Amino acid sequence: MKGEDKNMGKVAIYPGSFDPITYGHIDIIERGLEIFDKVIVAIAENEEKRPLFSVEERLRMVKSCVKDTPNAIVDSFKGLLVNYVGKTNAKVILRGLRATSDFEYEFHMASMNRSLNTQLDTLFMMTSKDYFFVSSRTIKEVARLGGAVEGLVPDLVVRRLKEKFKLPVPKKRRIGWDD
Ligand code: PNS
Repeated sequence: MKGEDKNMGKVAIYPGSFDPITYGHIDIIERGLEIFDKVIVAIAENEEKRPLFSVEERLRMVKSCVKDTPNAIVDSFKGLLVNYVGKTNAKVILRGLRATSDFEYEFHMASMNRSLNTQLDTLFMMTSKDYFFVSSRTIKEVARLGGAVEGLVPDLVVRRLKEKFKLPVPKKRRIGWDD
């Protein structure tokens, strides 16, 4: 049955820009794994969105952030999400919803994806109350202006943001992209 991987059980795709990954995303991945046996975190290349981090940088950060979550698989894709999903064994797209303001965009996207592939469903999970105000966009803005984003994104992401914005990085062992 599609959506059921013979070896992995039920599979969901969690797509996004992850520019950068936040604890809100990680919360959805972890809660998704309570419903699905495998969650494929699919990073959209989306060059037209002019991401701060290259797709390689995002891949390395996301992989590092979920390295202790065995059933979270990290990948990237170009082009239409439905085409990427078609190459996997998933039939569910997982998305987080923070507030009603997200709804219209998500509703359009889910409806378009469903119209492109009638076998596909989108499952929404409400973001945990601790992260409902966290978005990659606001994280980047706050970090760029020198505000504290600790506790909202993993430490590795805090450091990578500081490096991107050429802000002082606390003296500590230099960590690689994958740490
Ligand atoms: O984290 P984001 O930026 O809200 O994620 C949006 C994403 C990447 C899921 C969406 O832009 C997407 O699916 N892009 C791939 C191109 C595509 O399939 N577009 C049609 C969907 S309406």
